[in-house]
Amino acid sequence: MAVFDVKNVDVILNGNKVLEDVTVKLEKPSFLTIMGPNGSGKTTFIRLLLGIIPPSRGSVEVLGYDVLRNPLEVRRAVGYVPQKEKVNFEIPLSVEEVVEMGLLSRKPVPRFPSRSDGARIKEVLKVVGMYEKRKTPFANLSGGQQQRVLIARAVAHEPKILLLDEPFNGVDVHNQGQILEFLKAIKSEGVAIIVVTHDINPLAELTDYVMLLNKTIIAFGTPEEALNYGRLCQIYGPSVQVITGKPCPKVITGDTHA
Ligand SMILES: Nc1ncnc2c1ncn2[C@@H]1O[C@H](COP(=O)(O)OP(=O)(O)OP(=O)(O)O)[C@@H](O)[C@H]1O
Ligand SMILES: [Mg+2]
Repeated sequence: MAVFDVKNVDVILNGNKVLEDVTVKLEKPSFLTIMGPNGSGKTTFIRLLLGIIPPSRGSVEVLGYDVLRNPLEVRRAVGYVPQKEKVNFEIPLSVEEVVEMGLLSRKPVPRFPSRSDGARIKEVLKVVGMYEKRKTPFANLSGGQQQRVLIARAVAHEPKILLLDEPFNGVDVHNQGQILEFLKAIKSEGVAIIVVTHDINPLAELTDYVMLLNKTIIAFGTPEEALNYGRLCQIYGPSVQVITGKPCPKVITGDTHA
């Protein structure tokens, strides 16, 4: 069963064609890095896989489920860490309540936490190194700590696919290292991981496939196949630099949110 199978998809938002004729398939659980300049449709693509944004044309399947016809199955299969600037960080909840929300939102109403939920919350907070801070208000954490809690929330229900939209944005090297270790561990458990990033370099070791997006698919393949100078120039302009390396070339795009 393919992780996702997107066929001939257009997305039109407020009259603008944001994605055009996107056809791409991730065959097996693996680690996919999505790159593209600001406004190229990366977040839209992730939201398409979640069934949050419907395609204006074409079809989207996740683990064999049509995202529009089987939204509940898709929600259960997928964990999502949204792009930071799109999350309301003022939410008046403690760290453990934020993670609990991830579990409760997938239960039928009325929604109550079970004893096993409590154990799972403890487990995932320990794995991301945030258990000591479980009673702290989420709003009082640093950006990197918040990101780790949001990752714990996204994996609490044991998803088969984890989608992360710019998880390293504004995260220091220490927190980045912790997140990378965690991703490595869940990759080895067979979870498919899809990461949107402007900087592939920290992910070089983990990435199996790279997708370059600029409204449509510019390249999809192994890092060596996808990250060639010509293709990167096509989307980032001639200032892009590519340094050959294995398993993954180094790329300097100068395209960040910092
Ligand atoms: N709800 C919306 N209504 C109208 N246009 C939208 C909407 N959401 C996104 N867009 C537009 O769609 C395009 C793609 O947006 P998207 O957020 O997918 O880009 P992105 O590649 O994630 O960019 P970034 O790197 O800045 O996060 C942009 O031009 C954006 O302005
Ligand atoms: Mg985005």
